[in-house]
Amino acid sequence: MNETITPRRFASKLSSDIPKHWLPGNEVVSSILNAYTILVPANEGFYVRTLKACMPRIANEQLHARCRNFIHQEAQHGVAHTRYWDNLDAQGYRFRTFEKNVDKLVFRVMEKFGPISLRVSLVSCVEHINSYIGHEFLSQGILAQADPEVKDLMEWHFAEEIEHRRVAFDLLQAVAPNYALRVLGFALTAGLFYSLMCAQAISLLAQDGILWRKETWRQVKSHMGSKHQMVRRTLKHLFDYLQPGFHPSQTGDDALAEEVLARLASTTPPAVAPTQPSQPRASEQVA
Ligand SMILES: [Fe+2]
Ligand SMILES: [Fe+2]
Repeated sequence: MNETITPRRFASKLSSDIPKHWLPGNEVVSSILNAYTILVPANEGFYVRTLKACMPRIANEQLHARCRNFIHQEAQHGVAHTRYWDNLDAQGYRFRTFEKNVDKLVFRVMEKFGPISLRVSLVSCVEHINSYIGHEFLSQGILAQADPEVKDLMEWHFAEEIEHRRVAFDLLQAVAPNYALRVLGFALTAGLFYSLMCAQAISLLAQDGILWRKETWRQVKSHMGSKHQMVRRTLKHLFDYLQPGFHPSQTGDDALAEEVLARLASTTPPAVAPTQPSQPRASEQVA
């Protein structure tokens, strides 16, 4: 089993002339992934702060190192997606108030009042969601016709979500190996994740004035049902997480992620570049 997590950064510059609907003929998938882009930085900031708070409790050195590289990857996802916000601003989308409110009312509140074990459980669940979203988009080639720069951004992120999919679950098993806590984390996370992403995607489609267009609903039907089967497949992946014997390594996507990351690193210039592994700070030393 490949446990290696490689620190990288997204090196592509992201041009200012990326089209508004960057997946030709599919404004719905473009808007869903634009919503994902808007929600990523606050979401991943929450993972980073949660894992940093856990670092002094992690006795296993290997897990400690994996968590450190996970933090590096998630921080870089936030940086790259935030850069893409400049394009969304230039295209006239209004999303920053929604994004700020989500951060303030969801993540900061949970951080203030939620015990660390519950916060790790939330991260573990959302990381399962991130990795199977990555699996579905990469294995079905959904972004094959997308604008090349946005395609690189999304595929890099999805591949790294697959690469580090085991870490948060292993951390949860290390700090709070409690099935009821895993289920509670699932109950809080799954509904919230999809509600926020759908609300933001609907807002973007409404701002484009195409929310009630017949073609939009044909695309929804195709993505959720007849073509990509996202509803059925999502329910199956969510159900898998609730199995008492579940472990993220049961989804064997490592070769898929490696292939995508190798391709992105070999373009000219490279879309993705390795960076130095981050060193532990004194406050993060293994207990
Ligand atoms: Fe991420
Ligand atoms: Fe992740």
